Amino acid sequence: MISPIINSGLQDLSPVFRVRLRDPGPSDAALIYRWRNENALQAHQPLVYLSLDHIQSDIEKTSSNNLPNYSRERFQWIIERLSDSEPLGWMTLSIRTWEHQIGEIGYSISEAYHGQGYGFEALQIMLQKAFCEAHLYRVEAKCSVENPASYKLLEKVGFKQEGVLREYFNIRGKRFDHYMYSVLRSDYIKR
Ligand SMILES: CC(C)(COP(=O)(O)OP(=O)(O)OC[C@H]1O[C@@H](n2cnc3c(N)ncnc32)[C@H](O)[C@@H]1OP(=O)(O)O)[C@@H](O)C(=O)NCCC(=O)NCCS
Repeated sequence: MISPIINSGLQDLSPVFRVRLRDPGPSDAALIYRWRNENALQAHQPLVYLSLDHIQSDIEKTSSNNLPNYSRERFQWIIERLSDSEPLGWMTLSIRTWEHQIGEIGYSISEAYHGQGYGFEALQIMLQKAFCEAHLYRVEAKCSVENPASYKLLEKVGFKQEGVLREYFNIRGKRFDHYMYSVLRSDYIKR
């Protein structure tokens, strides 16, 4: 296991955020269950059905997200609006390999809050965590080629498209090509 060096040269795109990423608690299971069943969130994501109990036990495993934690591969946060603590969606970080400092993010904003810049802010905070706290070198994201909201968001935050994964995920019974995107620590430092 390597112990990556903290790079203090990393900078945020936006110094002022309206949202934060907080650890999930027991009462968030019902929220995540509801979000996972929203039509707009299912349309482009391979969200298999998970029972409320399953989500509850998943939350117990991801309730404390101190980074880095080399004994864990999966982390999740609730995206919460700072002004009124309204939960807007959730974010995941799956470590592909700690040794090579590679992780993959997942993100969803509830439909009622789309198009208000919250996804953009949440992804910036996620990258700050991934590079500055988890000390990752490479952060990946995959999204359907038919999900412009997602890939334009990734590009706005600084991800670069690397290619197409043919007929990758099965979404509601149909396989979709997916773009592979990544942002490297070196890209992030340049911004
Ligand atoms: C993708 C998603 C997270 C975007 O979050 P959001 O909070 O609505 O996005 P923002 O308001 O922060 O928009 C940021 C940028 O994303 C892009 N974008 C967002 N919605 C868009 C849309 N409907 N069409 C095209 N581009 C869009 C734009 O580039 C936008 O920047 P701009 O406003 O300067 O043009 C949200 O639509 C979502 O949760 N969708 C359903 C779940 C999903 O697809 N998750 C990703 C799976 S890979």
